[in-house]
Amino acid sequence: MRIVRARDYKDMSRKAANIISAQIILKNDCVLGLATGSTPIGIYDTLTHWCEKGDLDFSQVKTVNLDEYVGLDGCHDQSYRYFMNKNLFDRVNINKDNTHVPNGKAENAQEECERYHRVIESMGGIDLQLLGIGNNGHIGFNEPSDVFEEKVHKVELTESTIQANSRLFDSIDEVPRYAYTMGIGEIMSAKRILIVASGKAKAPIVKELIEGPVRPEVPASILKFHSDVILIADEEALSLL
Ligand code: GLP
Repeated sequence: MRIVRARDYKDMSRKAANIISAQIILKNDCVLGLATGSTPIGIYDTLTHWCEKGDLDFSQVKTVNLDEYVGLDGCHDQSYRYFMNKNLFDRVNINKDNTHVPNGKAENAQEECERYHRVIESMGGIDLQLLGIGNNGHIGFNEPSDVFEEKVHKVELTESTIQANSRLFDSIDEVPRYAYTMGIGEIMSAKRILIVASGKAKAPIVKELIEGPVRPEVPASILKFHSDVILIADEEALSLL
């Protein structure tokens, strides 16, 4: 894992946006695996700015998102489809038909998992997968477990994730209890992985990610077995190393 030290959130966002931008320049019809959460917002702002300036062209880019809450449709302001539209897709010249997020309102969970797995497969592989990291080491919504789940699956969110994500909802009772997430196998199949972390709250898990063993109780630890992973973290997130 290559570790890139950033000064602060803004510097982390610009460095990560530079890598995504280079990927789009090198392969204009690349497949980007995208993430939600607070951490990537600065990256999406930066990419939007460069697209507005005419330095970046999303017209051929295809995207596949990591996860979605079960029960929320794309118009719900806390759904990840809504987040992606608001923070990136509605602001750049991407063809929305080429953007994919699991369907939180699917009637049959098993069928939705299989459908989304086929979507990922049909894209011919993810060129660059962007990841954040949960305080408990989750990537996408792959929560700490006793196994690494391979494919898209429906997951029961842990109390710590529900607690962490409740800041974005009116009350904790409104946070969905389940989500669809890409599996560890699909994430690990990406050609290159870019993981970002910012702030003091992430320092313990960043330390565990870098120094701890590979184990499903810390899902992000599997990234150490991937041959092309870049971690961009700011001073605060790296402060316990
Ligand atoms: C969310 C998402 C993850 C994200 C993580 C961290 O629950 N499912 O993809 O990486 O939590 O979010 P944040 O960047 O807000 O700390």
